[in-house]
Amino acid sequence: MMLTVLITGASSGIGKAFAELFARKGYRVILASRNEGKLSELAEQLERKYGVETISVAVDLADSGGPEQLYKELRLQQIAVDVLINNAGIGSFGKLYEMDVHSELAMIQLNVHSLSHLMMLFLPDMVQRGSGRILNVGSTTSFYACPLSANYSASKAFVLSLTEAVASELQGTGVSVTALCPGATGTDFFRRAKMENQKIAKQEATMTPDKVAEIGYRALMRSKTFVIPGFQNWLLAQAPRLFPRRFVTKITRGVLEQKL
Ligand SMILES: NC(=O)c1ccc[n+]([C@@H]2O[C@H](COP(=O)([O-])OP(=O)(O)OC[C@H]3O[C@@H](n4cnc5c(N)ncnc54)[C@H](OP(=O)(O)O)[C@@H]3O)[C@@H](O)[C@H]2O)c1
Repeated sequence: MMLTVLITGASSGIGKAFAELFARKGYRVILASRNEGKLSELAEQLERKYGVETISVAVDLADSGGPEQLYKELRLQQIAVDVLINNAGIGSFGKLYEMDVHSELAMIQLNVHSLSHLMMLFLPDMVQRGSGRILNVGSTTSFYACPLSANYSASKAFVLSLTEAVASELQGTGVSVTALCPGATGTDFFRRAKMENQKIAKQEATMTPDKVAEIGYRALMRSKTFVIPGFQNWLLAQAPRLFPRRFVTKITRGVLEQKL
């Protein structure tokens, strides 16, 4: 039986890499993001290359009605989602007290509310069927506070905490949830977050989205609660356990302030 994966933020970066990977594995792929043109182009490519069925849904997940719209649209087409890749997310850069309030709240809506809302919509069906997998995209910043990206790092801490708690609740149901916590990855993320002139956007350890998706896929299939791609990123995530938190915050700020 053909399995179905729903990928949010599938139009670029890590989401697009996941779409390619699941299509290669023979899944029916549902692509969701705002950019209808990019989604249709990708859908066509995947169908041609892998002969799989694809469905594109243009949806703004920073809108509070976005998750419900997506869920209802799939229900209407009687599509059951076997795997949900909760990937859509954006970053921001600057001091909280200087940031545009509207954009920051929209980011929290997307990274936090929408991600949790999608889980709450799709999980009951999965639990009832006794099978399903969810992957939530966090970050290495899920593990520590990031000055100059305060709301972003807090939003990613939420993703990891939510995932760990729900993973425990799901024990024995046949359903699993995994947090993928990448470090710097070569996508459009830094440009969109207006961080392209910061050194972190071009650091040596930057991974390709394909590699990140591959590591996430493996962890998801093994029902791991979380995974941090790459040894250097894993070390970074351990910092708050090894050093005083204030020290880690200071170092993180220093790293983020470095310009190219
Ligand atoms: N790149 C990194 O260094 C890095 C590191 C750690 C974690 N992450 C996380 O990885 C995830 C994917 O990011 P990426 O690096 O692949 O960046 P990206 O290339 O900028 O992709 C972001 C995706 O999210 C979608 N998106 C943005 N706003 C949306 C909205 N309002 N509604 C629906 N979809 C929306 C975008 O599509 P549209 O513009 O078409 O809507 C795009 O497909 C994010 O959660 C990010 O926080 C990235």
